[in-house]
Amino acid sequence: MIDPGQAVLEVRQLSSVYTTPKGDLQAVDGVSFDLRCGETVCLLGESGCGKTATMLSVLRLIGRLQGRIVGGEVLLHGEDILCWPEEQMRRLRGRRIALIFQDPQTALNPVLQVSDQITEPMRLHLGLTRVQAREKAIELMRKIGIPQAEMRIDEYPHQFSGGMKQRVLIASALSCHPEILIADEPTTALDVTTKAQILDIFRNLKQDRDMSIIFITHDLGVVAEIADRIVVMYGGRVVEVAAVLDIFDGPQHPYTQGLLRCLPDISRPRERLESIPGTIPSLVHTPDNCSYSPRCPQVMDVCWSRRPPEFLTAPGRRVACFLYTRYPVYDLGNGVTAGG
Ligand SMILES: Nc1ncnc2c1ncn2[C@@H]1O[C@H](COP(=O)(O)OP(=O)(O)OP(=O)(O)O)[C@@H](O)[C@H]1O
Ligand SMILES: [Mg+2]
Repeated sequence: MIDPGQAVLEVRQLSSVYTTPKGDLQAVDGVSFDLRCGETVCLLGESGCGKTATMLSVLRLIGRLQGRIVGGEVLLHGEDILCWPEEQMRRLRGRRIALIFQDPQTALNPVLQVSDQITEPMRLHLGLTRVQAREKAIELMRKIGIPQAEMRIDEYPHQFSGGMKQRVLIASALSCHPEILIADEPTTALDVTTKAQILDIFRNLKQDRDMSIIFITHDLGVVAEIADRIVVMYGGRVVEVAAVLDIFDGPQHPYTQGLLRCLPDISRPRERLESIPGTIPSLVHTPDNCSYSPRCPQVMDVCWSRRPPEFLTAPGRRVACFLYTRYPVYDLGNGVTAGG
């Protein structure tokens, strides 16, 4: 059930670029979405569409990777954290908003014992002593399904399997009871059973802790399992936002429709799998039109020359496509419209 309450996090027209030898690469281009209390929002899209860049921008970490935020707002309970001093951001990261990085193989420091990596946020943010933090870490590891936690806590990351490493990262992210958890493709490198177990952990987190979760993935199967709402991204932009059932029942953007057509159909097992022809656009010097035009089966003249705004096709449902011009343009509430 979607909580109709106030948004915990509001991302408004967020734009970020990476500096590259060929010029600025627009990795995040006017992205807007909300995260409400206790809901799971999935950020979905092909590789390179800007999912990670969006989240690195929300946490203001993109600057560490030769990127910079060039516009927009990130409102945490109505306060724009893009204006906060860095010291205040440091206290926020890991404490109020925790991020599980994309690759568990590299996200853990290979020369530090797991104990140090799980307890550090608790010692830093909650002021716990080493002994107190260790006790809590063992409790967390148990809860998250790491067997023999009291022994394994003294091991190094290379002694853990991929799925167990992912659990360690989740335990570390949860250690300070953040209100928002951002998980960047936490199941991509896992086998199906481990993936199911990790998804269970996320489902339980939502139920037990009422946590608000942003889950980044390119896997529609994962989306179907855990999302309340979906934000579909393409070429650094949001192309569709809708509740999960609406997306699966009737995707509106031609890109989302294409993604769904790529899903295998169990009633037609021997048919060739579909794919979306063409490749994702370069994000350097992009023309200000619809970046999906070259691949879109329903492309119209206007799509080549103008960027579509987001149209509000139903309450809480929006799509950036000129096929929907009969609907009102989505207004961010301050006279600014999304996209366009
Ligand atoms: N450090 C960087 N310097 C320059 N360009 C970058 C950097 N990191 C990412 N990019 C580019 O920014 C764009 C968005 O990348 P991002 O990592 O956000 O994609 P993604 O949607 O997370 O993809 P994936 O599903 O593969 O993780 C891509 O074109 C990518 O090549
Ligand atoms: Mg990524």
